[in-house]
Amino acid sequence: MTLADPLLGPVVHSMASSIGGFERRRIYLDWNATTPLRAEALAAMKPYFCESYGNPSSAHALGSRARAAVEEARDTVAEVLGVKRSEVVFTSGGTESNHLALLGTALALNPGVILSTPIEHSSVLRAVDWLVERGWQVHKVQLLPDGRVDLDRLARGLDATVRLVSIGWANNEIGTLQPVAEIFALCQARGIFFHTDAVQVPGKAPFRKVPAHLLSLSGHKFGGPKGVGCLIVREEVAIRPLFRGGAQERGLRAGTENVPGIVGFASALRLAVASAEGFSARVRPLRDRLWQRLREIPGVQRHGASGEHVLPNTLMVTVDDVTADALIAALDLEGICVSAGSACAAGAAEPSHVLLALGIPLERARGAVRFSLGQDVDEAEIDFVAERFAQVVQRIRTVEHPSPRRLLA
Ligand SMILES: Cc1ncc(COP(=O)(O)O)c(C=O)c1O
Repeated sequence: MTLADPLLGPVVHSMASSIGGFERRRIYLDWNATTPLRAEALAAMKPYFCESYGNPSSAHALGSRARAAVEEARDTVAEVLGVKRSEVVFTSGGTESNHLALLGTALALNPGVILSTPIEHSSVLRAVDWLVERGWQVHKVQLLPDGRVDLDRLARGLDATVRLVSIGWANNEIGTLQPVAEIFALCQARGIFFHTDAVQVPGKAPFRKVPAHLLSLSGHKFGGPKGVGCLIVREEVAIRPLFRGGAQERGLRAGTENVPGIVGFASALRLAVASAEGFSARVRPLRDRLWQRLREIPGVQRHGASGEHVLPNTLMVTVDDVTADALIAALDLEGICVSAGSACAAGAAEPSHVLLALGIPLERARGAVRFSLGQDVDEAEIDFVAERFAQVVQRIRTVEHPSPRRLLA
């Protein structure tokens, strides 16, 4: 489906797949893994592949045109996020932004304590490991059962040894939103740098201010292209580059700029932030409808926060006596795309580190499935997904655990 809404769509969205020789529509409920490119972003990018293909550092007309496009994109990002243009650093995506935020500040500071959570994206967890190998100590904040940070406990942990705090704004698996404005205020009052991975936020939750000293974004999570992102670095932050080479991005990120990517990123970000309210109003009732249907299946549990404390499009469930791999493969055959948690963990058959950190037993965590809705899904499709999900669960349970009780059920 292509929506005509100027902010929500249209997206470039072809979901037909050929199975056994016939075409069928795919229902894509994996929006937190990646999103289709917005038509406006594609249109904005096109001239910078084959016409205005200059290197922004070149001194001739084609170079100037590319430089102007990058700087215009920087202006857009700064205006949308309410920061200075000098605070926008374009990168290759969320993973690089998280590494630049944590490793780059660590290079400029004396080792101390970094405070984070056990449910961060793997790109933050691994960057924190790197810090630990270089003499930092990591303190992981204990979380509430729904994955939220307990602010009182966090405040008590922010002593004089803490130099850096990294807490993701929205969790990509369970959708839990953290009270980042409050965390930022606590850190500011103590002179501690606060980084937040906001990769899952634009287009899904309100984004009016940058509530952090350092904030990571990735284009492909909100209708922009893959392989481009940005790190917001407030001017008071001490930070060093990770790569040495050219002087691009104020010397913080050497390497020829991805001009079409940066242009598409800025175009998509503007639309995503402007359409977040409409997106939420559309997908929240559909997500809740899906849960109302799934909760009727015995042994299905929901995880993460609820109400205003969770992304409006995200539903993480576990299904007892079923492995996520089997469930996802069976749903795929029905034309339904979902994920077992983070896309990076999918395929590795690893149970979600997020659920394990929240105290969910290993056996239950093995049956975790994440639905993340996009703006193109409708009620009929949600009902179809719920119906097929129930059938698939029953089929797998019968095959995997053919107890006489189940066979009779
Ligand atoms: C919360 C979060 N942070 C970081 C990333 C990594 O972003 P990228 O794919 O742009 O490297 C992802 C992508 O899955 C994510 O969901």
